[in-house]
Order: sequence, then C-alpha cells, then structure tokens
Amino acid sequence: MRRPTVVGNWKMNASLEQTTNLLAGLTEGWSGVHQAEVAVCVPYPYLPKTAELLEQSNIAFGAQDLSEHASGAYTGQVSADMLLDFGSKYVIVGHSERREYQNESSELVAQKFEAAATKGLIPILCVGETLDEREKERTFDVIGRQLRAVTERCGLGGVAKGVVAYEPVWAIGTGRSATPEMAQEVHAYIREVLGPEGDHTAILYGGSVKPGSAPALFAQEDIDGALVGGASLKAADFLAICRAAE
Ligand code: 13P
Repeated sequence: MRRPTVVGNWKMNASLEQTTNLLAGLTEGWSGVHQAEVAVCVPYPYLPKTAELLEQSNIAFGAQDLSEHASGAYTGQVSADMLLDFGSKYVIVGHSERREYQNESSELVAQKFEAAATKGLIPILCVGETLDEREKERTFDVIGRQLRAVTERCGLGGVAKGVVAYEPVWAIGTGRSATPEMAQEVHAYIREVLGPEGDHTAILYGGSVKPGSAPALFAQEDIDGALVGGASLKAADFLAICRAAE
C-alpha cells in the first residue's frame, strides 16, 4: 500500500501576507482529506510562519532546496539542520528549475538528497526530460541517468525511502500536462529502476496538474499523487487536488 501524496511547490511566490492567507485558506477549507499525505514547500523566509500556522493541522511542510553541506562557510546556503529547526518534513531536490537556472548536476542533486536523508528530512527527488529529449526518444535514458546518480550514492533503498517526482520539463507551468498514459509509462519505468525496494515509494507526477486533470492522473497504477506548482497557490484548487488523491 502506498499513501497518496500531494505536495505544493510554491516556488518563489507569495508574500508574508499571502502566505498567511493561503495557509488559512487550506486549514479552514480542510475537509474530505483522510488518507492522503499533504505538504507545502514554501520559500525559506516563510518557514517559521508556516510552522506556526500549520501546527494544529494535518498539513506537513518543507523547503524547495537545501545545501549539500552540513554547515560552514557557504554564504547564502541553508542546511538540513536549519530546515529541521523549523519543523520541516520534506525538501525538494533536483527541481528542473534548479538544474537549469542554477546549473545543478545530477551529482550535486545526489549529494543534496543524501544531505537531507541523512538528517531525517524526506527528499522529494525531481526527474524529467525536456521536450527535445522526449522528441529524440531519450526520455527513459535521461530519467534513468538522473535516478542512477542518486541510487549510486544512496543505494536503491536510500532513494526508495524518499519521494520521487516525475516532472516533464515541457509540462511545467505551460498548461500542457502529460497525458495520464504518458505519465504512467514513465512512472512504471521509475518503479522498475527502483526495483522491489520501490514498491512502497510514492512517485508523484508534476507539470500543470489542475483540479480537472488530477483524477485521471491519479487513476493510473503507478501515479501516487502530485507535485503541484501554480495550482498550489490557490487554496480551493490545491484542496480539490488533495481530495482527488483520496
Ligand atoms: P506547475 O504545476 O505550475 O506546472 O509546476 C509544476 C512544478 O514544477 C512543481 O514542482
């Protein structure tokens, strides 16, 4: 049995006021979610407010990145311990926006995954192909390499204890979601790479998930939930996606 899981990735959005309103919207509108694990990954500065506002709720939270280092002279970086200090449960690693804009390699992503897991945070490992890679039929090759960089460092068992998110780069923020069948094909491949250890690993789909598209995605055998960008910034939409995961 795998627990359905829905995680909001706020990216670099929201102010302190919007954070307060959005989290109030989630806690006040919370109903009909009994089985699913729900979390929001917020910008670092809003972690303390998020911890305060979600304290009495069933909603977990976390961050969108962390340092591969435990501490030291790394200006601007944030460690796993710092995230834990504010009650974070999850941290996203290897989001395609960081791979692309911050030039994060799969090796660095693997170090970050290890830094998070070693301290007891649950890493959400993002993998996904670009449109060009898909058109050249390199999807499995690309995703296999992104996964293996982490399994070689942390072992299959180590990766299986985290969460994996399949996010086709061409579907992120474009309104163009992968079809449920396309996503399922890749999710099945990811589960195959993880082997029997991955039987219990939540594999989430991310890329323009909306309340309307979520049910058909979640009906697929190997899609255990979603990593939601834009729609996680609207309480009603995010809650609708959480309910669809039940
Ligand atoms: P959108 O849902 O806005 O396409 O973003 C997906 C994503 O990148 C989640 O991490």
